[in-house]
Amino acid sequence: MAAGGIIQGVLSIASLYSEKVLEHFRNPKNLGEIPDADIKETVGNPVCGDMMTVYVKIEGNRIKDVKFQTFGCVSAIATSDVLADMVKGKTIEEALKITSRDVAEELGGLPKVKLHCSSLAAEALHKGLKKYLEKHSSQKDGG
Ligand code: FES
Repeated sequence: MAAGGIIQGVLSIASLYSEKVLEHFRNPKNLGEIPDADIKETVGNPVCGDMMTVYVKIEGNRIKDVKFQTFGCVSAIATSDVLADMVKGKTIEEALKITSRDVAEELGGLPKVKLHCSSLAAEALHKGLKKYLEKHSSQKDGG
C-alpha cells in the first residue's frame, strides 16, 4: 500500500471517534493494576475476543480507586478509562447504576459498530461489585 493510502486509512479511523475517545485512548490515566485491590474481575467480549481486567479499591462503601488492563480496541480502552474516572468517589450502589450507554455518552458517542466495545468495562465493573456485595453481605449475615 502506498504511504498516501496508509495515511488516509489512519485519518479515516481517527475521524470515526470523538476527540474525547482519542484522548482517553492515547493517554489512559487509569491503566495498570492495584496490588491490594478488593475487586479483581476479568471479562471477555464474545463478539471480538478482547479482554479486560478491572481492579477496584473500596473504602467504606465508596470506590476509592479503579485501574484497568484492557487488551482491546480504541473504544474498549477509552471506555475503560473514562468509566474509571466516572466511578471514583461514588458509592457501590451509584456505580452499579452507570450503564455502558452512559459511558458511551460521556465519551461523546461511539460509532454504532463499536457500541459493543463499551459493554466490556461496565460488565467487568458490575460483575466485580456484585460479587463484592454478595461476599460482604454473607459475612455480615455470618455466612
Ligand atoms: S473490537 Fe473488541 S472490544 Fe472493541
